[in-house]
Amino acid sequence: MNKTVEVLPDQSALVARALELILSKLETAIGQRGRFTIALSGGSTPKPLYEAIAAEKLPWDKIHVFWGDERYVPPDHPDSNELMARRAWLDRVDIPAANIHAIPTLEGDPAASATKYEQHLQEFFNCSPGEFPALDVALQGMGDDGHTASLFPHTEALKVSDRLITVGNKDGNPRITFTYPFINSARSVIFVVAGANKRPALAQVFAPVADDSTYPSRLIQPQGELWWLLDEEAGLEL
Ligand code: 6PG
Repeated sequence: MNKTVEVLPDQSALVARALELILSKLETAIGQRGRFTIALSGGSTPKPLYEAIAAEKLPWDKIHVFWGDERYVPPDHPDSNELMARRAWLDRVDIPAANIHAIPTLEGDPAASATKYEQHLQEFFNCSPGEFPALDVALQGMGDDGHTASLFPHTEALKVSDRLITVGNKDGNPRITFTYPFINSARSVIFVVAGANKRPALAQVFAPVADDSTYPSRLIQPQGELWWLLDEEAGLEL
């Protein structure tokens, strides 16, 4: 793994750098493999980044979008990560509907939805159970508790290492999430983290020794590239 940490002066510089890095990975992927695959994170930080991507002129038919996690709500629910990304980006560009690989959340059973998404991924990447296909980019956020995707501290999801997708749990509310080994299989994992409230967790995630179960972002140690893009608020003491 090669790890790069960049601290940008403010959130707009952070977004600009994240855009530049993603576009670079996109160009390489399409050049080498004819397509670009990216898993999106939810929450609030990535919204301006998605808006910036939507303003680019890109070969949308060669771009495939997945989600690294999703709240277990319908796709029109205000908490939906899919809804946020569609409004900020996907509804604004000519990306084919078939290239938008949303996490199913209407089965009424999170475990069934997780299995359904995993099967979809296995079909898309033409891989067998037990294989971890490589996305070009896994875009990650980090909560102020050190979680990423929906891998929350001290939850069962952190113990799942033989699946692509599992059921996360936030305060008793189910989530559908990439497992940490699936995130780690990406060619490039890019964290985009902003705000002073993330500083304490970042210090623990970056510490030589700390508890992975308490700070789950520590589990993200990809075989490929690991990028941490931080604004000054978040990255001040690193
Ligand atoms: C989600 C995200 C989650 C997010 C972090 C950071 O579903 O909420 O995938 O992992 O990235 O909670 O969220 P903010 O960017 O809003 O701080």
